[in-house]
Amino acid sequence: MNAHEYASANADRFLSQLQDLLRIPSISTDPQRVADVQRAAQWVADDLRRIGMQRVDIMPTAGHPVVYAEWLGAEANAPTVLVYGHYDVQPAELEAGWTSDPFEPVIRDGRIYARGASDDKGQVFAHVKAAESLLATGSSPVNLKFLIEGEEEIGSPNLSRFIDEHLDLLRADVCVISDSGMARMDQPSIVYALRGLVGMELEVWGPAQDLHSGQYGGTVHNPAQALAEIIAALHNPDGSVAVPGFYDDVLPLADDERAELERTAFVEADWRKATGAPQPWGEAQFKLHERIGARPTLEINGMAGGFYGAGFKTVLPARAIAKISCRLVANQNPRHIYELVRDYVAMITPPTVRSELRLLQAGEPAFVDRNTPAMQAAITAYEQGWGKPPVFSREGGSIPVVADFNHKLRLPVILMGFGLNDDGAHGPNEHFSIEMFRRGIQTAIYFYEAIAKQQP
Ligand code: BES
Ligand code: MN
Ligand code: MN
Repeated sequence: MNAHEYASANADRFLSQLQDLLRIPSISTDPQRVADVQRAAQWVADDLRRIGMQRVDIMPTAGHPVVYAEWLGAEANAPTVLVYGHYDVQPAELEAGWTSDPFEPVIRDGRIYARGASDDKGQVFAHVKAAESLLATGSSPVNLKFLIEGEEEIGSPNLSRFIDEHLDLLRADVCVISDSGMARMDQPSIVYALRGLVGMELEVWGPAQDLHSGQYGGTVHNPAQALAEIIAALHNPDGSVAVPGFYDDVLPLADDERAELERTAFVEADWRKATGAPQPWGEAQFKLHERIGARPTLEINGMAGGFYGAGFKTVLPARAIAKISCRLVANQNPRHIYELVRDYVAMITPPTVRSELRLLQAGEPAFVDRNTPAMQAAITAYEQGWGKPPVFSREGGSIPVVADFNHKLRLPVILMGFGLNDDGAHGPNEHFSIEMFRRGIQTAIYFYEAIAKQQP
């Protein structure tokens, strides 16, 4: 039996193991879940040990631990593949619209429903099971290293440092990440661009404390209103970002990219179904998929100020606050964009209030060279896994560590996403297609095999 046959023969067991992992509520942002996050790390490490990885460590960081595993038993001169993924998940509350308990996975209509099913437990587990299939049927044609972290969903705050401290340990020839998606199951695609992210907090103060809105209203510039005015000035009426210099470093879409991306274009009806929004919005000169994959944005993630509880309170609040994030594209620099927004906010803040824009987190955009041997191996793997050549696509989400793999480890990164755009990642009823899980395992095996054939 070869690895591919082994994966088919063990498909049911793989699925039930994935269900066990999905039962662990490893919500990295929730301080109440520290022990569950630890338990998920332990579960992943145990499975990696069980499949025959030679070294498996749960390595502490200042936050949640990293699971590291390696198998270096391939033939002399065989290349080494570093697999990255994350075992932490986003929060999930039943009340948010889940049909069933987010941490009690159920199978309906060929999909497995649970928080983390697609993002990213199901996808990273496909690589673990690909490795198992190879090791159980003889050997792996490549050396394998796994780096599975527990803090991706909170911006990987300790991973850069971890990489700096373990440059030798993580040495490899190529990095593969399955933590993104494809537009449709019947058209495989390889993501070559992800957006970066700057997370910011804008605070506006006025009076020294909350005031009676009758006694002082009309004489004090209300900070909630001033915040709204500042926020309103961050975009132009055409949907573009009004911050001077914001687009200066944006790598424009080349004509051949435009044509290629057309093949994974958002159908407007699908966009409506996915979002439930009445109408599209944004930069009209770019198509929906171009706005998501190739244009930077500035989003208000939340704003608060004054009284918004039950009932009514005639208050003039002392302060108001907003969380703002920008998605960035190549070649924008997060720090520089933060400075541009900060300076613009300072400039448009009226003298009647004070404001401060604080930087909370920063992650670089990812842009992958499509003309590398590693990419050729990925193309071969998709052709074999899908019986059809993949197209290239760009996605709007962020995996900030990709930049570190490029710069610090000098690794070509392959974004081999097996999710689907409508998997409901971060939302209610997140699910992963069982067929995508199955093909993901097969494609991962084909990828390791194709990489091995490239050895010099
Ligand atoms: N897997 C996603 C990233 C992603 C989403 C890639 C969609 C491609 C398409 C990842 O888990 C994620 O959610 N990242 C965060 C990063 C943030 C917390 C720094 C994101 O994009 O918001
Ligand atoms: Mn993810
Ligand atoms: Mn995510």
